[in-house]
Amino acid sequence: MDTLVVDHPLVAHKLTALRDERTDSPTFRRLTDELVTLLAYEATRDVRVTDITVNTPLAPARGVRLARPSPLVVPILRAGLGMLDGMTRLLPTAEVGFLGMIRDESTLKAQTYATRLPDDLSGRQCYVLDPMLATGGTLAAAIKYLFERGADDVTAVCLLAAPEGLARVEEEFKGTDLPIRVVTAAVDERLNEHGYIVPGLGDAGDRLYGVV
Ligand code: URA
Repeated sequence: MDTLVVDHPLVAHKLTALRDERTDSPTFRRLTDELVTLLAYEATRDVRVTDITVNTPLAPARGVRLARPSPLVVPILRAGLGMLDGMTRLLPTAEVGFLGMIRDESTLKAQTYATRLPDDLSGRQCYVLDPMLATGGTLAAAIKYLFERGADDVTAVCLLAAPEGLARVEEEFKGTDLPIRVVTAAVDERLNEHGYIVPGLGDAGDRLYGVV
């Protein structure tokens, strides 16, 4: 598994504002959107393209377009939904599948409660959107699910990661050679006893959508 921490002043600036407890929900949503677009730029560095030629007003010019089958973007409900527009802005031909996963707060284990994905993901590059890579249980389960359906490679885009979560995903796929990447704005210090990232930014879903 490869981990990329995107080191860029705009990423750091937006992440700092997201962390700030005074940032209200509308601002939090806008900043998440902008931050994901910056992360998406790095996350899609290996997205497949096809060579094409177009005609400029002056002459033919060689270029590329996104290859088929199109990439699949998979937000993990609910908080991953807040990352969807920022990602598809850069991948307009991507298809979108949904994975509903929730963390059981007593066991901290991931449970799937909804899926809306193509049955066969052969040949597909998949981009999982999950803002907080905390214990890693949800992300590991989501990645496993996508590879079981034939995904070619999986890139997870996370706003923040905890060392424990990265280690958990790494451990889950150790020795498999599956192409997995995690792209994040920062790796924080640790998890607290409730499985929250410290210093983190709190509950991403609540901050995006309110406490429901
Ligand atoms: N989920 C969140 O929203 N925040 C955390 O810190 C951990 C999991």
